[in-house]
Amino acid sequence: MIRTALTDLLGIRYPVVQAAMGYVSGPRLVVAVSNAGGLGLLASATMSLAELERAITDTQNRTVAPFGVNLRADAPDAAERVRLIIAGRVPVASFAQAPKPELIAALKEAGVVTIASVGARRHAEKAAGWGIDAVIATGGEGGGHVGSVPTSLLIPQVAAAVGIPVIAAGGFFDGRGLVAALAYGAAGIAMGTRFLLTSDSPVPDAVKQVYLAAGLDGTVVTTRVDGVPHRVLRTRIVDRLTGVRAGGAAGAGWLSGARRAAGLARAARSAAAFRGASGLGWREMARQGRAMHRDGGLTWGQVLMAANTPVLLRAAMVDGRTEEGLMSSGQVAGLIEDLPSCAELIGAIMTEAEACLGRLATVRSG
Ligand SMILES: Cc1cc2nc3c(=O)[nH]c(=O)nc-3n(C[C@H](O)[C@H](O)[C@H](O)COP(=O)(O)O)c2cc1C
Repeated sequence: MIRTALTDLLGIRYPVVQAAMGYVSGPRLVVAVSNAGGLGLLASATMSLAELERAITDTQNRTVAPFGVNLRADAPDAAERVRLIIAGRVPVASFAQAPKPELIAALKEAGVVTIASVGARRHAEKAAGWGIDAVIATGGEGGGHVGSVPTSLLIPQVAAAVGIPVIAAGGFFDGRGLVAALAYGAAGIAMGTRFLLTSDSPVPDAVKQVYLAAGLDGTVVTTRVDGVPHRVLRTRIVDRLTGVRAGGAAGAGWLSGARRAAGLARAARSAAAFRGASGLGWREMARQGRAMHRDGGLTWGQVLMAANTPVLLRAAMVDGRTEEGLMSSGQVAGLIEDLPSCAELIGAIMTEAEACLGRLATVRSG
């Protein structure tokens, strides 16, 4: 048995967390992970309030094990989401981006364990100062929105800086990685891409096959998708967005003329649809758009394209349209070749971690 500050804090059997993934980590995946002894996290940023309420009830009907809800503190209805978490007696809340002190305080007062996602030491220190219970520190090889510091450098730095459990993320997939994370001072690991590639994940099989076929060079980090660094599978649509032509040379970039106008109109319709689904108000979407224009160096056309991102993610993850959709992915996709169940995966990770610790003990005494 590997017991850490994380298993004690969360009351889970194994120090393994399923990282939140929009359109992927709904009740089915979360229940499979939590029932297998890890911690599943519902991704709520792509759910409406009503969908989140249903997802919480659905999860609770299928597991008595601890699970959590991942949310964005900057969502206009974040306070309502927090009330839902508290009223539903959800044991854990994790923040997708920067948390807010007043939300942490409300959750903690109600006995909910709080976790912040960080990509840099100063963010971990800030969240710890606000009373957060644990952090998920994600290195640059991770999938989705990522920082630039690799996991092997970020984890020891964050673990040395804060006195709360650190959950290492970005590139983990096996028991050796868990032991390495513990050696760096973390109390457990969180995995996104590895849990996406399980038989319990709801992602269409055609999409899983694209991930399985990717090599270690099969992902790219780009700000062209939504204005902030986002690691995605390298597909044709991504190469078009990033201006890379077949063969790797930089090209003219994203579309032109009439096709561009049609694309922008589609992006505007998609933005309207996402606004309804996510609970983000027009004002918040406009604020984010202005920030992308200003800080991300995006043209207004690109900003409108960025509003399309959730819809493009949904097209792949839910509808299975791998050609038109976007697929967030960690570099680790290049090392994954199978689709085990979550119970098989977590079991194999723990068996391998124990064996690894045994081997290391003989190294020391040898
Ligand atoms: C398909 C996919 C969707 C993701 N969606 C979200 C999300 O909605 N919110 C979030 O905070 N992080 C999201 N992430 C990032 C993960 O929570 C996590 O940080 C990352 O997967 C860890 O790296 P790994 O994939 O190497 O395990 C996503 C990652 C993937 C692969």
